[in-house]
Amino acid sequence: MAINQKPRLKDSALRRFKLVILVTLLGFLLFMILMETNLFQNFGPWFSDNIREDPYAGFGRFDSNDVLKLPKQTELSVRLEKRNRLPLRNLDLYPNLAKDHIPIVLYVHNRPQYLRVVIDSLSKVTGISETLLIVSHDGYFEEMDKLVQNIRFCSVKQIFAPYSPHLFPNSFPGVSPTDCKGKHYPMITTNCRGNPDQYGNHRLPKIVSLKHHWWWMMNTVWDGLEETRGLSGHILFIEEDHFILPNAYRNLQLLVTLKPKKCPECHAVNLAPSDVKSRGEGNNFLVAERMGNIGYAFNRSVWKKIHKKAKEFCFFDEYNWDITMWATVFPSFGSPVYSLRGPWTSAIHFGKCGLHQGQDEGDVCIDNGLLNIDVKDIDEVVNINSEWPVEVFRGQPGYGAGFRGWGGWGDERDRQLCLNFAQMYRSMPNVSRL
Ligand SMILES: *[C@@H]1O[C@H](CO)[C@@H](O)[C@H](O)[C@H]1NC(C)=O
Ligand SMILES: *[C@@H]1O[C@H](CO)[C@@H](O)[C@H](O)[C@H]1NC(C)=O
Repeated sequence: MAINQKPRLKDSALRRFKLVILVTLLGFLLFMILMETNLFQNFGPWFSDNIREDPYAGFGRFDSNDVLKLPKQTELSVRLEKRNRLPLRNLDLYPNLAKDHIPIVLYVHNRPQYLRVVIDSLSKVTGISETLLIVSHDGYFEEMDKLVQNIRFCSVKQIFAPYSPHLFPNSFPGVSPTDCKGKHYPMITTNCRGNPDQYGNHRLPKIVSLKHHWWWMMNTVWDGLEETRGLSGHILFIEEDHFILPNAYRNLQLLVTLKPKKCPECHAVNLAPSDVKSRGEGNNFLVAERMGNIGYAFNRSVWKKIHKKAKEFCFFDEYNWDITMWATVFPSFGSPVYSLRGPWTSAIHFGKCGLHQGQDEGDVCIDNGLLNIDVKDIDEVVNINSEWPVEVFRGQPGYGAGFRGWGGWGDERDRQLCLNFAQMYRSMPNVSRL
């Protein structure tokens, strides 16, 4: 109706209209001047896409011991952090942990069909009921949560990384509307936040979440959790795609007792060879080799050495936690970092069938929840002999001194968050402890 009506402007109305236009133009001019002189800095909070909006406002030094600023938490993040303080599960079934038990930390993301297999394998591990299983979640996923809640075969502690990028749908450390995207071209001034890595690429929250989670979990387990922060002995670490054989825990206990005598220069023990494709040599010797990333265990003195290298870990432009350890942290110890293991594996990495390029026929993989691992007699019982000699595998291929990382970890905010994880249980002992 209104469309057909010709506007009949009276003189006074026309004058008022001109005045509005003039005021608007003047306002716009003033705005441009202010922008030019950067006066608008002070009005940061009014502009949702202002690049100065800083999750770490006031935190300027990387090596600061006394200033700690963590990103503002989402509601979900706060709720999960509260759950981290809940008592152990299954206390009714296992009121006491065995003396000198070796806690097992299982860190997971979101592959329920894998986790189901891993939990099932753990349920068949001899001695599992003597120890504590800590499951650390990167993000919140209901099915993953349920699977862990249903575990009854041992004492369980469930924790969630409260600063996982997966818990921040709209802000750092998740995806933020002000993030720079893709390749960075220095010549173009872009109104975005973030530093590109050495190859010019900006951070991807889904990718950086793995290294963040690993580092948060390490700091939390050793220095934060009431249940473990007083322990000086070994802790075992496994992942959601590691099948654990029935003899794993007893082998682990034996390796830990043998280590001081058999391999004093070893920093860790491993349940699997560092070559992920190998199931072991099957010979009558123990092996000391480069520390692997499947089923590794070390004690608090080694953790202290690692923690001292927080800067090296957090500043190396490499998004994989394990490559970061091999390429910067371990070499900075000054001597080779060996790990002791048996000649047969007790943990097996598996993947989805046909997913990986060039997957060999013998690869362990899972389809429709079924895994093609057959557990042999030798995997059922301790298969390490304390009389065996130790073979040291020297000069294994690794990351040389010139290696600068594969990138993906160039954003200063990630580096600061990472350093904050190393500080959070030390600078605010009464506030942040779980
Ligand atoms: C922890 O392990 C390291 C490396 O194997 C060893 O030198 C150290 O004595 C161990 N510490 C304790 C408290 O057992
Ligand atoms: C932290 O707790 C300890 C012991 O409970 C206390 O002595 C200390 O003053 C507390 N520190 C702060 C900053 O509240």
